[in-house]
Amino acid sequence: MSRKFIIGNWKMHTTSAEARQLAKAVVVGMSRVARVSVAICPPFPYLALVGEILKGSRVALGAQNLYPEKEGAFTGEVSPTMLLDLGCKYVILGHSERRHKLGESDTFINHKVRVALAAGLNVIFCVGETLVQRNAGRTKTVLDRQLVQGLAHLSAVTLTRLIIAYEPVWAIGSTGHDATPQQVQEAHAIIRHRFGRMFGTKSAEALSIQYGGSVKPKNATALLSRLGVDGALIGGASLHASQFLAIVRAGINEAQTEEESA
Ligand code: PGA
Repeated sequence: MSRKFIIGNWKMHTTSAEARQLAKAVVVGMSRVARVSVAICPPFPYLALVGEILKGSRVALGAQNLYPEKEGAFTGEVSPTMLLDLGCKYVILGHSERRHKLGESDTFINHKVRVALAAGLNVIFCVGETLVQRNAGRTKTVLDRQLVQGLAHLSAVTLTRLIIAYEPVWAIGSTGHDATPQQVQEAHAIIRHRFGRMFGTKSAEALSIQYGGSVKPKNATALLSRLGVDGALIGGASLHASQFLAIVRAGINEAQTEEESA
């Protein structure tokens, strides 16, 4: 996989004015680069306004969550149909903040993944262990469980619209614990191996696996140059157009290096 995919997860940040400004700056910056795929995921209230700005650009629109029903009496929730209606191509599911702060279970996440894929969305499915789990030597067990349960009963035809993001909980949000490129490469290999056992080697080879956890311009090249790291899911640094675009450029350079050595 030579074209890297860089995704910005704005989380619960920005005002409408800031969202507008940030989206415009990313679009302008992206008009000067090629050979990299980019998506941004603003908060729900700004999807429409950011979507308008992204129209006709090379930046895709993504959402940070959905509720796994088409419509109905689900106060406060947002359906896949609504996301598609707003022009969303992607949705982030299984993010550790939703797993740990909002108590989402593997079963519930699996339901969301299946409904989102069936609706036609591309899913960025996040997995990752906590520091306690890593220190107890349970990284592989945790990743395997999240993959087996979170991706249960998926229809094979939808697999091409699935992206996995490896996000070690202990490295998210500038915690002071950064995952080393070696640790990231190893975790991606575990994920690809498990995915291969679930869906076959061909699907595993074609799978795009992003890394997320304090990716910044200063460490982007080291991470994106690792074998099996197909892109990055960026939180904090995606709120600053210059930092986000610097990471996008690191993605292009790495894609080119891989093509040259292929
Ligand atoms: P971070 O967030 O880049 O701020 O660590 C990544 C994420 O949670 O997706």
